[in-house]
Amino acid sequence: MISLFHFAFYLLFLLLTIQHSTSFSFNYNFSDPTFDQSVLRLEGDAFLDGDIINLSRYNADDNFDHSQGRATYKQPILLWDPSTGKAANFTTSFTFALRYTVEQPGDGMTFFLLPYPSDLTDRSSQGCLGAVENCYSPNTKRKKHVLAVEFDSYMNDWDPSNSHVGIDVDSISSIVYQNITLSTNTDMRITSNITYDSGTKILTVLVYSDNNVGFGNYSLNAKVDLRSLLPSEVAIGFSGATGHARYVELHQIFNWYFNSTLEPKNISSLGSLSNILKVVIGLVTSLFIIVGFGSIIWWKKYKIRSYREVEMYEVMYNELTKQAGPKVFQYDELLVATKNFAEEQKLESPNIRLVEWVWELHGHGKILEAADDRLDGDFEAGQMECLMVVGLWCAHPDDSQRPNIKKAMDALHFESPLPLLPPQMPVPMYAAPLENISILSRSTSISSAMSTIERC
Ligand SMILES: *[C@@H]1O[C@H](CO)[C@@H](O)[C@H](O)[C@H]1NC(C)=O
Ligand SMILES: *[C@@H]1O[C@H](CO)[C@@H](O)[C@H](O)[C@H]1NC(C)=O
Ligand SMILES: *[C@@H]1O[C@H](CO)[C@@H](O)[C@H](O)[C@H]1NC(C)=O
Ligand SMILES: *[C@@H]1O[C@H](CO)[C@@H](O)[C@H](O)[C@H]1NC(C)=O
Ligand SMILES: *[C@@H]1O[C@H](CO)[C@@H](O)[C@H](O)[C@H]1NC(C)=O
Ligand SMILES: *[C@@H]1O[C@H](CO)[C@@H](O)[C@H](O)[C@H]1NC(C)=O
Ligand SMILES: *[C@@H]1O[C@H](CO)[C@@H](O)[C@H](O)[C@H]1NC(C)=O
Ligand SMILES: *[C@@H]1O[C@H](CO)[C@@H](O)[C@H](O)[C@H]1NC(C)=O
Repeated sequence: MISLFHFAFYLLFLLLTIQHSTSFSFNYNFSDPTFDQSVLRLEGDAFLDGDIINLSRYNADDNFDHSQGRATYKQPILLWDPSTGKAANFTTSFTFALRYTVEQPGDGMTFFLLPYPSDLTDRSSQGCLGAVENCYSPNTKRKKHVLAVEFDSYMNDWDPSNSHVGIDVDSISSIVYQNITLSTNTDMRITSNITYDSGTKILTVLVYSDNNVGFGNYSLNAKVDLRSLLPSEVAIGFSGATGHARYVELHQIFNWYFNSTLEPKNISSLGSLSNILKVVIGLVTSLFIIVGFGSIIWWKKYKIRSYREVEMYEVMYNELTKQAGPKVFQYDELLVATKNFAEEQKLESPNIRLVEWVWELHGHGKILEAADDRLDGDFEAGQMECLMVVGLWCAHPDDSQRPNIKKAMDALHFESPLPLLPPQMPVPMYAAPLENISILSRSTSISSAMSTIERC
């Protein structure tokens, strides 16, 4: 049983540590013919048109008002790691243009961070710039928090001017802004570099133009605690929206660079649920066989007390022997093999000792010492600790305290916090007559091991 648990832990560990690197980046040039559009999610009117992304539809001859669109990076981005509490330092850079030929441009575009996954809805049209839902009613209680850097080309009631860059935190009304000439009918391209330092919590926005020296360069920054504002997994991307027919423009993105100190969890390679399920099913099957096997010994040793039990024993015996799997031993053979069921030879005890030992290390804050020596410290501490704590959680002596498979998986995927386990392994309490204690403790251990695996 020890090796079985070792094996399962090792497998889970491998699944969790497939990716080692501690930084993550991409650099897309949308006019490069080799650019693979499938990394993006395009919504609304967003369109990859040859070599640019048009976020909104615009054609001077047609009436394309109230257009909005988004181009989002398809995978979730890890903003902070729930197992270590560490927030990412990131930088992003993109080149864009806001073009218009009508009398008045509008409404603008954003670079946004929203809880993952995020869908474009018609609640974020027009002045909400495709990013801040229900922005026209600022007192709406906001369930989904948002950080946006807005490039705003229309003056709404809440705006300081009809052309500015601003930092928006949970509101379309910027906390800081700079007046900038954004919209043009020339081929001016604007570059914005946005950096976040999780140490100082400062978000810095630079804006300049490579092909128009007259544009100047601008910088603005704000202190934002992104770790408390947003969940650990966010959607990042661009949004754009237009207003009424007279207030329309084209929002175009030419390239996009992003670099973060935190590697996102890759759902497709981080042992998909089905891989983990395979391990769990393997464990349940093995344990079922072992428990059945243990039960036979127990029945044999403590005498068969009724015909009913004899029948049960026979059914179980036949089930086990007619399968190609485990061999059923005679009681005498087992008696010899286990030195008359000596304390340290009991089937379940090595498992429980293991568990007790790990729990004790956990209580002393040294759970990582329980990691397999053969791994030689070559693992990510946060992931290993998570794995071990979830293991203990599943082995909690009080089975009402154990997680169900969803909770365990959420914790393993860092989607929910780890449980607060008591520093010492709780002692299970049983109201049982004294003479039955040895029987009970043995069968309880077996059944608790069984339900450990059933539940996790
Ligand atoms: C993007 O790709 C196009 C086509 O391959 C190339 O002409 C252009 O120089 C590239 N732009 C950048 C910024 O690398
Ligand atoms: C995208 O923008 C270009 C102008 O650069 C325009 O010719 C094209 O029609 C736009 N595409 C869509 C789908 O609006
Ligand atoms: C921005 O422009 C508006 C008018 O367009 C002006 O009222 C405001 O003072 C300007 N803000 C700054 C910081 O210059
Ligand atoms: C903006 O970011 C890009 C990509 O990291 C970099 O090449 C460029 O030098 C940056 N510009 C400024 C002004 O920092
Ligand atoms: C982010 O940068 C700060 C220093 O500016 C550093 O203290 C912190 O460790 C960095 N975070 C990560 C996750 O690298
Ligand atoms: C900022 O503007 C100055 C003067 O216009 C220019 O020399 C400098 O290169 C600009 N910096 C960036 C990052 O564009
Ligand atoms: C990402 O940022 C780190 C730290 O600034 C840097 O060392 C690394 O080269 C960057 N990666 C890319 C692909 O730009
Ligand atoms: C996730 O993993 C798959 C397959 O290993 C790979 O193709 C894809 O690029 C990865 N995505 C990210 C965001 O790393």
